[in-house]
This record gives sequence, C-alpha cells and structure tokens, in this order.
Amino acid sequence: NDCFTSAMSLTDSGVSRVPTRYILPPSERPMLGSSIDTDAINLPVIDLFHLHNPLLRPRVIHEIEMACKGFGFFQIINHGISSSVVKGAIDAATRFFDLPADEKMLLVSDSFHEPVRYGTSINHSTEKVHYWRDFIKHYSHPLSKWIDLWPSNPLCYKEKVGKYAEATHLLHKQLTEAILESLGLETNYLQEETKEGSQVMAVNCYPSCPEPEIALGMPPHSDYGSLTILLQSSQGLQIMDRNNNWVCVPYIEGALIVQLGDQVEVMSNGIYKSVVHRVTVNKDITRLSFASLHSLPMDMKVSPASKLVNENNPAAYGEFSFSDFLEYVSRNDITQKRFIETLK
Ligand code: SIN
Ligand code: FE2
Repeated sequence: NDCFTSAMSLTDSGVSRVPTRYILPPSERPMLGSSIDTDAINLPVIDLFHLHNPLLRPRVIHEIEMACKGFGFFQIINHGISSSVVKGAIDAATRFFDLPADEKMLLVSDSFHEPVRYGTSINHSTEKVHYWRDFIKHYSHPLSKWIDLWPSNPLCYKEKVGKYAEATHLLHKQLTEAILESLGLETNYLQEETKEGSQVMAVNCYPSCPEPEIALGMPPHSDYGSLTILLQSSQGLQIMDRNNNWVCVPYIEGALIVQLGDQVEVMSNGIYKSVVHRVTVNKDITRLSFASLHSLPMDMKVSPASKLVNENNPAAYGEFSFSDFLEYVSRNDITQKRFIETLK
C-alpha cells in the first residue's frame, strides 16, 4: 500500500504545474478532441413533477424513453429531494475534504471491497496516469447497516449525507420503475426475481488544477450498475454523443443528473445504451460531486429481458453479474464500457 499524495494536497501546496504522472497522452487530453459546448446542443431536462399524476405520467415516461434512447443521460428537476438536503450533503462533504490529510488517511484503502474508503485518482497503485480527483466511497443501503462505518468527522457528515443517500435511494426506485415502464416491462420486473440491490455513494472532490488542459478528473467510462444519480456543485462532466464527440453537461441549479449504466444496457437488449462520460477539471474552482451508484445484487445474473428478445431482435448480450464484472476488471485493466462490449 504505497503512500499517495491527494489531489487536494497538491493544490494546497500551490504547485504551478501538474506532476508528470498526471499528464495525459496528447490524444486523451480534454481540449484536443472536438469538445462541443452545451449551447450547440439541447441536452434533455425532464420535469418529474407529473410522474405521480396518473393522467400525465405517460408524457413523462415518453420523455424518459426519448432521453434513454438518445444519450442514455438526462437531468431532472422537481425530483422531490429538497434543496436543504442537497446543500447539507455538499456542506458536509466540503468539510470532510477540508480535514487535515492525516485524518482522511484513517479511511484510506486500495480494496474495492472495503465498505468505506478514502482514496485519490482511480486505482492509484496500479494505473499509469493519475487523475485529479480525491474521493470517499461508502456503501449506503440499507443505511442502518453501514452508516456507523462512515466518517465521524465532520460531526454532521453521517446525518447530512445519510439524509441525501436515503432520499436518493427512494428516487432511484421511482426512476427504475419509470425506465422499466418506458421499455414496456412490468415495473416490478426486477424486484420479482431479486432481493434489494446495492447503493454505493461516491463523493468526489476535484480541486482546482494548475493545468486543466492536460489532465482529467476521471477518465472515460460507463457505470457498471443499473443507474447513477449524480449531484454536482459546478460544471465539469462531459458525456460522449453517438458520434464520439464530447459534450459538456451544463450546471443547472437544483437539478440532478441521471445516467444509465451497463446493467440497463444489457437488460434492455441494447435498446438503451449506457452513457460514456468523463470529468474535466478547472483552474479556479474546486468541484464536488455525489455519484449514487445503484446496482442489482452482486450475484444476480443480468441478461436481456425475454420480452425484448425475439426473432428480429436476438439477444445481443451474454449474462453477467456484478461479481463477474469485478473479477474481470481485476484481471484485465479495462474500462467498464469495454467490459460490456466483450459480452456482445
Ligand atoms: C462519476 O463518473 O462517477 C463522477 C462524475 C462526476 O464527477 O461528475
Ligand atoms: Fe461514472
């Protein structure tokens, strides 16, 4: 377990260049690709206000279907999580990352299986290039099972982030039902054959970076789970469109971002695709994000829904479970999107 330097401590020490290990090869640098700015394109923003109104729900479901068939990504407003809960979570996370390094290091771990772990970059001990990101990740559902292991400093962390995690879990259930409905599947399609899935909260901190044009906060990837609900404190996320162009996701105050993961791609037999995304950093602002990663249970085999497989649409994917995935990734150094492509 070699010692690491967090991105935050590099920023705090006032470096004027990023250390060599953070410099991306030219083809992977954020400013060299054709990065389309948000004004050029209308990314979907869906108002969930009418989701609970039986008469107007079909309209919302249709908007969700269009967004899932398009980018596999959308922002939501009127999602039911109050701004005070959101602000509380951001405030607690800000205070956590502001703690002295020694304090945060108490929670450091390299192991993917650790229920609470603090770290920097992605896989600091094995990767060739580091990413300008610190994080704390914790299992979040069922909350009562895990919350005692969460950071006890700052004092408000468990309460504030716990409230946000619970609200997000509820929202994820509503979104999952809506997405299944938009595919013409029973809304209890997944629950029927399964126990509760998992929720991992990744709280990310991307400190201001002296050379944002040659580094990234996170490399291109898709999320392996079913659904990710993302809260961001400022702009920085980019998603890949169907022509492999990077599109900047605008910051919308009060909105949350929904991203489809690989499990939905498989389950929908490719009607919906998981979205490939990456994170850019910037010179002036420290950006925070909460990625609530929802996933089907470890050992549940995910395969295309039989209702979506027929003569004209043969099954496009093999079965995989989350544990298959983890094993595969630990043996091969690959991005998540490539994992799913090997199943096609
Ligand atoms: C992630 O991909 O999990 C994080 C995205 C973000 O920080 O915007
Ligand atoms: Fe992600």
